[in-house]
Amino acid sequence: MSEFHDLAELALNREGETWGNLGYWQTATEYSDACRALALLLGEQAGLNPQSVVFDAGFGCGDQLLLWLEHFRVARVFGANLSRSQTAYAKAKLARAGFPAAAAAILQANISDPEVWSAALDRPSHVLALDCAYHFPNRVEFFALAQQHLALEGRLALTDFMLADQHRTGSFTHRLLRWMLKRSHIAEANIVHRDIYLRQLQQTGFGDIRITDISEHVMPGFAHSIHTLRRNGKLSWSGRVKYNVTGRFLEWAYRRSILRYCVISATKMG
Ligand SMILES: C[S@@+](CC[C@H](N)C(=O)[O-])C[C@H]1O[C@@H](n2cnc3c(N)ncnc32)[C@H](O)[C@@H]1O
Repeated sequence: MSEFHDLAELALNREGETWGNLGYWQTATEYSDACRALALLLGEQAGLNPQSVVFDAGFGCGDQLLLWLEHFRVARVFGANLSRSQTAYAKAKLARAGFPAAAAAILQANISDPEVWSAALDRPSHVLALDCAYHFPNRVEFFALAQQHLALEGRLALTDFMLADQHRTGSFTHRLLRWMLKRSHIAEANIVHRDIYLRQLQQTGFGDIRITDISEHVMPGFAHSIHTLRRNGKLSWSGRVKYNVTGRFLEWAYRRSILRYCVISATKMG
């Protein structure tokens, strides 16, 4: 059965790497490097260290799990990914890299399933969601589950979309945005203005909240990289359709101040 999140992103990467995010393009010029840079930014904002126990929601094909383990030297990782093909790929990747315990600890499951969270032996010190929370069925529910299961004073860190402050939800542009969200399997309720996003975090029991707008180093860079990959004949016909539409859409949403892309971190209170 075909999946929306599958192994298609392999075509965007250099051999051996399997990232699937929008990338952080401040200095990177290649897709795999930009994706790794976005993951590094997230790990740094989360404050990962050798004591960290990481729950990774939406870990893709596993490159980021290796980054937490090898670069930040975290104590343990576990997590869930809705995609069967990506989870199988990530398990094999971790096992090959010499992390059999991590390979066994990651699951193919929906992050909205509370059992996924209680399956863990320890409470995580960190819950991470790299470029995926906007795809979750309900992001507020994700915040609530993370808050419930994090250790006291644990950190939630994610990269995510929100509406630009000046964007009006009654506008014609908003109708176009809604169409695009539907096409991209993103629940409309997940895309909110920054003040609402902040309130959702506060109301689910988070404090010490930091939201940093990194759009200028994400959205145009991704669009440009797809253009380059296409021009160099690196994309299949289906890849050209899928990524070209996404790239052009992000360029438009950035230029017209419709969406913003941010790195967010928050601490569990009480
Ligand atoms: C844009 S990809 C990002 C992948 C990866 N984090 C990366 O940076 O390369 C979104 C990821 O979220 C996962 N995902 C989407 N909905 C999910 C859900 N409800 N539960 C768990 N994972 C989900 C997808 O399978 C995919 O791996």
